[in-house]
Amino acid sequence: MTPHQRHGFTCWLTGLSGAGKSTLALALNEALQARQVACELLDGDVVRTNLSKGLGFSKEDRDTNVLRVGFVCGLLNKHQVNTIVALISPYQATRDKLRDFLPGFIEIYVNCSLEVCIQRDPKGLYKKALAGEIPKFTGISDPYEAPIAPDIVVDTERFTVEESVQQILGYLSENGWLRE
Ligand code: ADX
Repeated sequence: MTPHQRHGFTCWLTGLSGAGKSTLALALNEALQARQVACELLDGDVVRTNLSKGLGFSKEDRDTNVLRVGFVCGLLNKHQVNTIVALISPYQATRDKLRDFLPGFIEIYVNCSLEVCIQRDPKGLYKKALAGEIPKFTGISDPYEAPIAPDIVVDTERFTVEESVQQILGYLSENGWLRE
């Protein structure tokens, strides 16, 4: 048994709103479950309606949100349940804390330029943020710190969801996280 197999992994997807984190997380979850890999998906938009209900978008609240979800990942990973997280998680120092306490932490930068996220604007939030209707909106009036040394970078401007899923599965396989 390799050390990896004693605990699960956490695929932590960080990136701007509209970069494609949720779509990718969902597809990755399906691909892993199809391979009988135990995993649980924690998506920001869902988490904020229950586990993190009531939290806003100040730095303090975002950090609480991120660390809270990380804590849950730790509990699941301890029991060999892998986790996939889709949160903006804008601060490098906070993501570094996750790496410190999650032995299977895999930082995945879902890379998409702000310009393209604004064009996509799937929820119409950039339009509102640019009009000054949403304060502290990531990328517009609040910071996003791109990962300094991510384990994986997926480029959602150039590659399809399926290609990015394959890229992540390849990483997991090469690093001994998947039983072949
Ligand atoms: S995080 O910063 O705490 O990691 P999280 O991923 O949970 O953020 O939530 C981001 C989602 O909340 C966005 O996709 C968007 O739908 C919504 N949202 C509402 N207000 C904001 C805001 N001020 N900044 C960013 N996202 C916001």
